[in-house]
Amino acid sequence: MTEDERDRIAGGYRAFVEEAAPTSPLYARLAEEVAGSDDVLSFLADLPVGKRQPNLLFAALRYLHGTPADGAQLRRLVADDGERLRATMLARATQTNEPARCGALLPVLALIEGPLALIEVGSSAGLCLYPDRYGYAYDGVPVGPRDTVRIDVTTSGGVPVPGDVPAVVARIGIDLNPLDPADPDDRAWLRALVWPGANAGERLRRLDAAAEVAAREPATALTGDLLDRLPDALALVPPGCTVVVFHTAVLPYLRSEARAAFVDRMRDLPVRWIAQEAPGVLPGTGERRPSGWGTEFVVSLDGRPLAVSAPHGGRLEWLPDGLGASGR
Ligand SMILES: C[S@@+](CC[C@H](N)C(=O)[O-])C[C@H]1O[C@@H](n2cnc3c(N)ncnc32)[C@H](O)[C@@H]1O
Repeated sequence: MTEDERDRIAGGYRAFVEEAAPTSPLYARLAEEVAGSDDVLSFLADLPVGKRQPNLLFAALRYLHGTPADGAQLRRLVADDGERLRATMLARATQTNEPARCGALLPVLALIEGPLALIEVGSSAGLCLYPDRYGYAYDGVPVGPRDTVRIDVTTSGGVPVPGDVPAVVARIGIDLNPLDPADPDDRAWLRALVWPGANAGERLRRLDAAAEVAAREPATALTGDLLDRLPDALALVPPGCTVVVFHTAVLPYLRSEARAAFVDRMRDLPVRWIAQEAPGVLPGTGERRPSGWGTEFVVSLDGRPLAVSAPHGGRLEWLPDGLGASGR
């Protein structure tokens, strides 16, 4: 490991401290420990560049051993079980799937004439493909079915809360590695990706319940790159519906040329396009943060920003010029 490499990896973990501190103080402490541990940094330096990030290391540790209580335990686990940890980090990826993100999608979907065919690119286990199967409470006002996953949203800025959920006639996901919501091992990995912290219990309950919904009514899952497989997804759409291509927390995974090509494609296709991504990931959606992530997402329809949402759901702020966006 060169000194440069060590500093780069440690710098990534230090940046993560700030990101994790508000919701997961334990992860913030663990990241600080990693940044100061030569042994753990060497372990990480032996992994390919795209496999060294905090989310992946911590999820792999939790998947194999449960959450490390502190830095000393983390260092011990890396020293004693490095081979299995390495194999897990190579085999798995950060594919956090948060169904609560549907709370931000629903008011935007309601602006689009249905019935809808949903194509989600970067769908992970596809849990955001069921916005019509979940129940919502916007500032306590219920929307949609009651006896199912419940998604609470606090709103501001005059969110046009719909009276009901949309009619969905097709659910198609594209992912480099689609996870199977019915598979116990994939579910265990999805659970390991949820950060420990005050809202972890609620997130895990929601994840389990949403995986049950998805397992009962499987979506079509296409394996591969989102641009490559988009024509296949479009070919599966039944006639007589509006196609909505959407993505949440996906585009930072793409290199900038691929991201630009995807944006061009979305502008050309005769579909509606919803994005829920960190600011600046799409043109005209604010300043890009160095980490690629951040503490809020921008929700846009056909490239036009409509709202700001909390990355794991729960909060939605409609932007002042976000109304009247139903026309293309
Ligand atoms: C952070 S997860 C988000 C999952 C889901 N959209 C959500 O918001 O809960 C990002 C997903 O994008 C997928 N992904 C990344 N790059 C991709 C690409 N080029 N083509 C297809 N899927 C991709 C990853 O495999 C991962 O499952």
